[in-house]
Amino acid sequence: MGFFSFTQEIAIDLGTANTIIMTNDEIVVDEPSVVALDVANGKQLKAVGRKAQQMIGKGGSLIQTIRPLRDGVIADFYACEMMIRGMIKMIPRQNRFLSPNIKMVVCIPSGSTEVEIRAVRDSSEHAGGRDVYMIYEPMAAAIGMGIDVEAPEGCMIVDIGGGTTEIAVISLGGIVTNKSIKTAGDDFNADIVDYMGRMHNMRIDEPTAERIKIQVGSALPELEDGPEDYIVVGPNKVTALPMQVPVSYQEVAYCLEKSVSKIETAVLQALESTPPELYADIVKRGIFLTGGGALLHGLAQRLSTKITIPFHVAEDPLHAVARGTGVALKNTSNFNFLLR
Ligand SMILES: Nc1ncnc2c1ncn2[C@@H]1O[C@H](COP(=O)(O)OP(=O)(O)OP(=O)(O)O)[C@@H](O)[C@H]1O
Ligand SMILES: [Mg+2]
Repeated sequence: MGFFSFTQEIAIDLGTANTIIMTNDEIVVDEPSVVALDVANGKQLKAVGRKAQQMIGKGGSLIQTIRPLRDGVIADFYACEMMIRGMIKMIPRQNRFLSPNIKMVVCIPSGSTEVEIRAVRDSSEHAGGRDVYMIYEPMAAAIGMGIDVEAPEGCMIVDIGGGTTEIAVISLGGIVTNKSIKTAGDDFNADIVDYMGRMHNMRIDEPTAERIKIQVGSALPELEDGPEDYIVVGPNKVTALPMQVPVSYQEVAYCLEKSVSKIETAVLQALESTPPELYADIVKRGIFLTGGGALLHGLAQRLSTKITIPFHVAEDPLHAVARGTGVALKNTSNFNFLLR
């Protein structure tokens, strides 16, 4: 048999904003979920990930950049398949086998419908997966944060990604309740684009909004040690002349207020529908916050104060789901929370 009989084993966090691949406990691919297709040449794959992201808004009508996922689910099946294929090719040589048999664990949002689950499975199989397992994202996140998910003790996970915020209560190896809303990082960016236009008459696009959010995004109008103002350069909406505007975290807090409070309300609703025994566990243990949105300045503090339960931010919020999916990959035979 020899070398060629090895099975390549990979875990994939297929996210709206970022896709991460793990093999052997190691993150080997970590790229934005974007593909660029060459429209003139029969939609051939032009670039994947960061390279494709740099082409956003720059290719006119010849290069089409696509984010294959919207709100946590596959919106463009063809682009998604191309993206998974492309990302698998990005696995560094030393972590890659010349094997046609790829065993995959892919995570899916906890509110997925049968059709959505099917779409992830089909995409993964078309991209080369022979043996495809799936795991729900909050379960993967909890495992990735080192929580004993099989314990008879409830825990609540809040995962704020690019497309969705997922809230789940896990106990005894299962998801007891879950709530998912389509308000997350992408909406924060849209709020900022809108705000810059309305308040500063500046036209910006998503990548700039993303930079503003990372620099001076805030969930609270008052922060201890808040970031300095961020200078944004862009065209005046009316005159098209270049302008520079310093943006403060206070004003971004104001602009994100509506979206942040939607997330807050969703957490409260999830708590409302949590059985009392588990509720008591959650109050005792605190709530676990993950996903890139957990990095928003002041968010954990705001939620802790408003909900009066402490929020713990994952050590590495952008990778908790991927790490948990990686753990599941090594335990496919005895993890009963994997879907086939
Ligand atoms: N420092 C930061 N402050 C605020 N938001 C951030 C920060 N860093 C990343 N983000 C946001 O986190 C989001 C990406 O998070 P993550 O990778 O967890 O999402 P995803 O898994 O791709 O999406 P989903 O789970 O919804 O499919 C993006 O919206 C990004 O802008
Ligand atoms: Mg995610």
